[in-house]
Amino acid sequence: MPSIAPPGWDDRPMIRFHGPQRPFHADLTVPGDKSLSHRALILAAMAAGRSMIEGRGTGADIASTCRLLEQLGASVEPEAVESPGVVEWSPPSVPLDAGNSGTTIRLLTGALAARPFRSTLIGDASLMSRPMQRLVGPLGKLGARVSVSTAGTPPVIVDGTPLYGAPVRVPMASAQVRTAVALAALQADGSTVVDSPPGFRDHTERWLTHLGLGSSLDETRFRIDPGPIPSFRVTLPGDTSSASFLWAAAALGPGSTVRVRSVSLNPGRTGFLDVLAAMGAEVEIVPTAAVLGDPVGDVTVTGNRLTGTIIEGELTVRTLDELPLVAVVAAFAAGATTVRDAAELRTKESDRIAATVGMIRALGGAAEPAASGLVVEGTGLTGGVVAADGDHRIAMAAAVAATRSGSVVVEGFEVAAVSWPEFEAVLEETWSSP
Ligand code: S3P
Repeated sequence: MPSIAPPGWDDRPMIRFHGPQRPFHADLTVPGDKSLSHRALILAAMAAGRSMIEGRGTGADIASTCRLLEQLGASVEPEAVESPGVVEWSPPSVPLDAGNSGTTIRLLTGALAARPFRSTLIGDASLMSRPMQRLVGPLGKLGARVSVSTAGTPPVIVDGTPLYGAPVRVPMASAQVRTAVALAALQADGSTVVDSPPGFRDHTERWLTHLGLGSSLDETRFRIDPGPIPSFRVTLPGDTSSASFLWAAAALGPGSTVRVRSVSLNPGRTGFLDVLAAMGAEVEIVPTAAVLGDPVGDVTVTGNRLTGTIIEGELTVRTLDELPLVAVVAAFAAGATTVRDAAELRTKESDRIAATVGMIRALGGAAEPAASGLVVEGTGLTGGVVAADGDHRIAMAAAVAATRSGSVVVEGFEVAAVSWPEFEAVLEETWSSP
């Protein structure tokens, strides 16, 4: 299967990280939020006309979305998208290759469901083994014809067809599936109401409300009113998940402080900050603005003595992408930290329960996997060699451990470029701040 993933990014020579060995203080911004960048680009390509998007994310996943939108007929510039509108999208002449990006493949499946042509969506080796069956039932409620492999994985084949509005119950708290439904429902005949368990990032719901294309019925039920998407102008906040690596570094160094300005404060994104506060770190959140109805602000984390905690239920959903980092911080927190209700972690860019436990053990710590979670003992980390496993969040979480452990070597570190190509330089700079 063809793939655009940079060849051999697991083979890159290892990178060694040395922590600062003293308290540090940093005040910075991070590149644009990945979730919001995907949404901004896709909505702009669905709108007819020119939309302005300032500060989009710099990672390879965002480049994948840009490339596929161009294949469909939009013109993507560094700070603008010009499009004839979704009804004029052109049939792709070759498969749409989403690289490593689950958000790209899932959101575009929804956006393509009403186009009068066949689309085939594929990805790199990791994406080709991720679950896509979850899209089939919910989109099918609108009349969409979507099929996946017998294993439930890509290729995803979308045979575009006219859609009708319907009530759609998504069985998992997945923002990606909800957004796929919303992007299809915008092109349907009649309104759709989507529902799911709580805790998901509701960026899409907030933006569609702001654009006059839907409204919340209660905490989890959202009505989508079909209609042409207007072109828009947006300045994206920084990526909360990227900032979390730096907040974790601060939390690990008693007396260290990291302020990251202008990041998304969507409630579905701030679980890690709640976890750090529960463990004893000082967390100060200052809301400063709203972008298309979605809150943004500055967050300062100061390191302190930490104690273990329990993460379960909705908090697990709100912290999901940051759980490898939770494990690193937990290794330095007195007692045990238990993560429950996180079976979804097994379906991320790697089996993140196995990869996280493997990382903690490789660094000299104590961690036990469970069917749907893990337990980390606060026995400290000494350092060691960690294989990134083709997973950007494992690569960066391991590097952050060096804040407090001995030196850490990460094999295949280049995969960090999936979400944050500048991470290595920013971490070194943060650690060397006075
Ligand atoms: C995302 C939603 C989450 C998250 C992923 C990005 C999004 O996935 O883990 O990194 O942008 O909608 P799920 O929706 O599958 O939970």
